[in-house]
Amino acid sequence: MRALPYVATTFATVALCGAALAADAGPTAQQAEKLASTTCAACHGAAGRSSLSPFPNLAAQTAPYLQAQLKAFRDQKRADPDAQAYMWGLASPLNDAMIAALGSYYASQHAAAGKSGNPKLLAKGKEIFDKGMPAEGIPPCNVCHGANGEGNAMFPRLAGQHAPYLVKQILLIQNALRVAPVMHGLIKDMNRDEMLAVATYLASLGPQP
Ligand code: HEC
Ligand code: HEC
Repeated sequence: MRALPYVATTFATVALCGAALAADAGPTAQQAEKLASTTCAACHGAAGRSSLSPFPNLAAQTAPYLQAQLKAFRDQKRADPDAQAYMWGLASPLNDAMIAALGSYYASQHAAAGKSGNPKLLAKGKEIFDKGMPAEGIPPCNVCHGANGEGNAMFPRLAGQHAPYLVKQILLIQNALRVAPVMHGLIKDMNRDEMLAVATYLASLGPQP
């Protein structure tokens, strides 16, 4: 898997503001919002709604999941090539209080809109998400990720996420390049077509009421 190209100047900038933040005892919600809009927005979009598919939407993601992922990047435990190339340097200066504030900030933003897709793929993806594939031992995804992919605590929101990002993460988890013990065994027999279908379906889901 090829790492996404570029980046260096952002890292330097973040390292600087990160050092200042680490010295601060308790970052406020405003400081988290400032870091999000000055730094994270470059890739993850304004308020965490990203327009480029390699960069996941963060808006409306669950706070506990966001916090766990930021800690996993900071502690170099989420270690796939793009995590290393992009997020390790950015997360390394963040203290726990700033991570908590960033998690709350993104969790409270409006979710990105869904994107339409090929109707056949959408139908197949919905079937997999709602019912699993019993013959292949794959359970329904909705038991953990929520009826509409809205997520719940440690189970990430998948609704409205970019399809290419979702496929990439499913592949990484399947190949154990991203450590996610709960998920890994469940999807070991999923093939590329099934991944694309479920990702297309999830990407089509917009914000729920
Ligand atoms: C230079 C681009 C870039 C910047 C700036 C950036 N990120 Fe990321 N971020 C990425 C990429 C690429 C990924 C996907 C990594 C992977 O594929 O494992 C990611 C993944 C994440 C994830 C995991 C999302 C998920 O659904 O699992 C979180 C959380 C995150 N970033 C938070 C942040 C925060 C907070 C900031 C600002 C401090 C930030 N990022 C700045 C590129 C960036
Ligand atoms: C038993 C609960 C469970 C089931 C069932 C489950 N997942 Fe997950 N999934 C998780 C957990 C927990 C994580 C977060 C892993 C981590 O912390 O890194 C996750 C992460 C993911 C991610 C990465 C999200 C991101 O933002 O990076 C994707 C994509 C995903 N699951 C897709 C699926 C699909 C598709 C199915 C159904 C075929 C499914 N999951 C079934 C528990 C589950």
